[in-house]
Amino acid sequence: MQSLQNDRYLRALLKQPVDVTPVWMMRQAGRYLPEYRATRAQAGDFMSLCKNPELACEVTLQPLRRFDLDAAILFSDILTIPDAMGLGLYFETGEGPKFERPLRDMAAIEALPIPDPELELGYVMDAVRTIRKGLNGQVPLIGFSGSPWTLATYMVEGGSTKSFNIIKKMAFAEPAALHLLLDKLADSVILYLNAQIAAGAQSVMIFDTWGGVLSPRDYEEFSLRYMHKIVDSLTRENEGRRVPVTLFTKNGGMWLEAIAATGCDAVGLDWTINIAEAKARIGDKVALQGNMDPSMLYAPPARIEQEVQSILAGFGTGTGHVFNLGHGIHPDVPPEHAKAFVDAVHRNSQQYHQV
Ligand code: CP3
Repeated sequence: MQSLQNDRYLRALLKQPVDVTPVWMMRQAGRYLPEYRATRAQAGDFMSLCKNPELACEVTLQPLRRFDLDAAILFSDILTIPDAMGLGLYFETGEGPKFERPLRDMAAIEALPIPDPELELGYVMDAVRTIRKGLNGQVPLIGFSGSPWTLATYMVEGGSTKSFNIIKKMAFAEPAALHLLLDKLADSVILYLNAQIAAGAQSVMIFDTWGGVLSPRDYEEFSLRYMHKIVDSLTRENEGRRVPVTLFTKNGGMWLEAIAATGCDAVGLDWTINIAEAKARIGDKVALQGNMDPSMLYAPPARIEQEVQSILAGFGTGTGHVFNLGHGIHPDVPPEHAKAFVDAVHRNSQQYHQV
């Protein structure tokens, strides 16, 4: 078995001592990198890139060649599960993801299959295995999935939405239908993430991008409950190491205690909460990941460094912090600014760790 040269990211997630604060960026492989745009053009469209393990491996490794990142993240998308369920995913340029056959009633939900991760999603597992070989122990590989609620928003709305009225109509007028969908999605996510772990993902993260559009009671009922079920059923040890689980609810700052109580190892934070406050609330139970506003990467490097310093000071001494952006990097950020960000985290964090 290959040994890890840099395990800071895994250690920080488990609140073990590290030399400097580990850092990676959500959506670190993507359109802000010219080499990504070139590989994507070679693949054709975005899903063809996801479905080609060699090219998916190539774009996963691209940001690691440029920046001193402490983790790699599988290049894929959260919408692979609904695609494998037969909804017909496609991407309309400039409009984001769309489904040919959105789910609108109980009958369609009852008919939904639970995908076999090594068959319909075998291309994702092939990508995981190819990336692990390509990484050769340099840094750990993060696997991921969407949360059941976030996946359901795309599947019921038929794509991105600002108002969430179709899914909320289902939640409040036909709750049994939505719960059946969420339950099937939770089962699918469990199989999918456990297969990613078996294929070589050394940590997994659940993206609950849209949990924050719910009221506190509805968040508990329609989102958190299903993430909790997933956390309870994940493989937590592989290759002789713990496989840490990170839950990220965007705009979930109100519910940190409840998220931490699911038994996850780490909680992802967006930039709308102060990390010092988050640490005071849940820092004794879980690690924290975050939380610079991704738009700060438009600022000049000196301003980026100042912001990094203030977030590091907010977390203060001790372990249990993985530095990240509070959401995905924007496609028009200059790559040099991303480099300034990553270097600033390492340069300024040593003082907070005594080894
Ligand atoms: O972090 C990484 O580098 C790994 C790759 C990754 C992608 N999507 C690649 C991608 C991850 C972790 C995701 C997760 C994802 N996908 C989420 C949750 C995280 C978040 O950002 O909230 C969501 C909601 C999606 C659904 C999705 N996929 C949307 C809304 C879009 C369109 C975005 C846009 O700006 O057009 C995608 C497409 C997508 N997924 C791209 C990438 C690099 C852009 C595709 C392209 O090359 O044009």
